[in-house]
Amino acid sequence: MRKFFGTSVVAISAAAMLALAGCGSGRDGDSGSSGGGDAKGFAANSLIGVALPAKTSENWVLAGDLFSNGLKEAGFQADVQYAGASTTVADQQAQITAMTTKGAKVIVIGATDAAQLATQVAAAHAAGAKVIAYDRLITNTPDLDYYVAFDNFKVGQLQGQALLDGMKAKKPNGPYNIELFSGSPDDNNAGVFFNGAMDVLKPEIDKGNVVVASGQKDVKQTAIQGWKAEGAQARMDQLLTSTYGSKELDGVLSPNDTLARAILTSVKGAGKPIPVVTGQDSEVESVKSIVKGEQYMTINKDTRNLVKETINMVKALQAGNAPQVNDTKSYNNGSKVVDTFLLPPVAVTKANVVEAYANDPKLAPLTK
Ligand code: BGC
Repeated sequence: MRKFFGTSVVAISAAAMLALAGCGSGRDGDSGSSGGGDAKGFAANSLIGVALPAKTSENWVLAGDLFSNGLKEAGFQADVQYAGASTTVADQQAQITAMTTKGAKVIVIGATDAAQLATQVAAAHAAGAKVIAYDRLITNTPDLDYYVAFDNFKVGQLQGQALLDGMKAKKPNGPYNIELFSGSPDDNNAGVFFNGAMDVLKPEIDKGNVVVASGQKDVKQTAIQGWKAEGAQARMDQLLTSTYGSKELDGVLSPNDTLARAILTSVKGAGKPIPVVTGQDSEVESVKSIVKGEQYMTINKDTRNLVKETINMVKALQAGNAPQVNDTKSYNNGSKVVDTFLLPPVAVTKANVVEAYANDPKLAPLTK
C-alpha cells in the first residue's frame, strides 16, 4: 500500500523567479519521459487555466474557490471555469481552447469526459502550456504532463471493506444481500472506484457470503450517468420494487455521498430498514447523516490538500523545476505512463468522525 502524505515542499529559488516567459517549449512530453524540468519556467504573473467539470459534488465547488484564491495568492492570474450542467464536454473543450489562446502557461483539468479531450490537450501542449490532470485522469493522449489525485483505486477498496465491516457489525452472519452503484461512465474515476471496491467484494460474492440480489453486477448496469442524484434514486426505487418485496437489503455500495443520500431517500421512502450505505467526499449533509447513524461511511479526500499539491506543481513549473511526483509507474493513460502525485484517502465512519475532521473548520463543528 502506498503511504504518502501531503508533505511535498517545492522550493522556488530567487534565480528561478527570474525565469523568462517560456513559450513554444514544443512537444517535449511526447517521449513519455518525466516531463517538466525544462529549466525555463515562465513569468511569475502568468495566466493559469483551471477547467473543472460540472458541480456534481461539493468538492468541485470548493476546488474552484481554492484554485482562484490560491493561484492569486501565489501571484498568478487565474482563469477558473466550470463546464455547464448539460453540454459538459463541449463546454470544457471550448474553455480549454480559450485558455490556450489566451496564453495560459499551465492548464489544470478536472475532466468531464476522460476520453474527449485529446485534441484540446494536444493544442495546449503545442502552444507551450503544461497540462495537469486534476483528480480525474485524461486518457489516450501523449500530451498530458502530470496527474495529481487521491489514490482512487484505494477509495474503492476502502468502500468495499467498509461495506463488509458495516454489515457484519449489524448482523454477524451472512449471506448478505447487497446492491452495487457506480458513477458516471464518462468519468475515468467511476471505473477505478468500482474496480477497487470489487477487488474486495468479489471474493465474498464468489464464496456466496455476499449476494447481489438483483444480479446487476456489471459496471454498465450499475452506472449513474452524470453522477445525478435523481438517477440513483430512480434506480434504487426500481431495485426495491423488482427485488426487495420480501427480501432484506443489507448493504449498498455507493461511490459517493450525493448518490448515497439519494439511495437513502429511496429506501426510507419505501419504508424499508436502512442498509449499510457507503459514500465519498465528506459532504456536509453526509457527515451529518453519519453522525446521526444513517449513512455508514464516507471518504475524506481533503480538497484543500489536493489543490495545494496542484498549486505546488504550478509553482515548480513556473520556476523551471520538475514538480514533485511520487508515482511514475501506475497511471498509464493508454498513450503514456503519466507522472503522478498521489495522496492517500481516509475512510470515515461514526467511529472516527471526530478525529477525521478535527482539522477541518467546516466539518469539525458537525461532529461535536
Ligand atoms: C470525484 C469524486 C466525486 C465524483 C462526482 C469524481 O471524479 O473523484 O470525488 O464524487 O467525481 O463529482
